[in-house]
Amino acid sequence: MSLIRPLQIGTFTAPNNLLLAPMAGITDTPFRLLCLKGGAGIVCAEMVSAHALHYGNPRSGRMLAVAAKEHPVSMQIFGADEATIAQAARQAQAQGADIVDLNAGCPVKKINKAGAGCVLMKDEAKLGRLIEAAVKAVSIPVTLKTRIALTHKELLAVRLAKLAQNAGASAVTLHARAAADVHSGPPNVAAVGEACAAVNIPVIGNGGVVNADVARQFLQAGCAGVMIGRGAVGNPFIFSEIKDALQTPSSALRAPSPSSGEGESITAAKKRLQIYRDLIRENVAYYGERIGVNRSRKTAGYWVSNFPNAAEVRGQLVRLDTLAEIEQLLSKSIASL
Ligand SMILES: Cc1cc2nc3c(=O)[nH]c(=O)nc-3n(C[C@H](O)[C@H](O)[C@H](O)COP(=O)(O)O)c2cc1C
Repeated sequence: MSLIRPLQIGTFTAPNNLLLAPMAGITDTPFRLLCLKGGAGIVCAEMVSAHALHYGNPRSGRMLAVAAKEHPVSMQIFGADEATIAQAARQAQAQGADIVDLNAGCPVKKINKAGAGCVLMKDEAKLGRLIEAAVKAVSIPVTLKTRIALTHKELLAVRLAKLAQNAGASAVTLHARAAADVHSGPPNVAAVGEACAAVNIPVIGNGGVVNADVARQFLQAGCAGVMIGRGAVGNPFIFSEIKDALQTPSSALRAPSPSSGEGESITAAKKRLQIYRDLIRENVAYYGERIGVNRSRKTAGYWVSNFPNAAEVRGQLVRLDTLAEIEQLLSKSIASL
């Protein structure tokens, strides 16, 4: 059977098993639409505070909005209280989410202080109750995103996958790094593989998937799907690239031509800048110029990279405030490559 296949999460079937990871400040509607175009099977939204939704925070409310074309989409919520989690899950469903995901892996101090994110990994009873509350509140599938461990001292992947299953989650995503590592270091694929063998619900592997080789490792370890975070920022077509690579028999893959080095990276840089320019236009259309430009500038490091004067262009870009100026700068850079 092909490693790339439809992904069944409870009652929901996604067209393929390559997912965009939730990333605060990045995976908003314009970027999610771009990743769906790039071949993602499911796109996940930025985490939204259940507490803020409860108090009617308008910004959090807007973060749950789902555009007509952006399906399948999973809305991620975080919180520490059963009633507000249930309410947030219902709101996500009402806004059109296909899946609700509960965050139990975020290591950000402010979130942990409020009892949410990765601190839930050490309070299994509470985590179980939160999952159950969300499951009871909605008819769409509920999933859990957590990590394999809090620190390197003890692996929790098997325990947490079982807990998710027992509490009624339809799938569990395991970030293959300890919370103490935040987002750095190699993924511990074997630890995720142990969890895959221990539960019947789909396990989605996450962490360090930047090419087909790493995706293959997770899928061969037993993962039903693979979730891609930073590898998709700057390359939203990574999903199609991985699909193509894993669906093509290895005998049919040609070795890269030895002369392709620099020319190929310039072609890739040009394509990246063109996609970035389009994304900035979409951001401005979606948010208006001030917020659209501001959000776009934050990810410049992912897009404006790997060409000779990239640092200089980035330096200029972060000082620009209008779409017209940014378009002009990027078009000039593209033409110069
Ligand atoms: C800027 C940024 C924001 C993130 N925000 C979230 C979030 O809102 N919810 C979440 O569960 N994980 C979040 N993560 C973690 C990612 O979903 C993912 O687990 C992590 O980046 C590892 O995957 P990667 O190595 O493919 O990037 C974030 C990561 C980054 C880099």
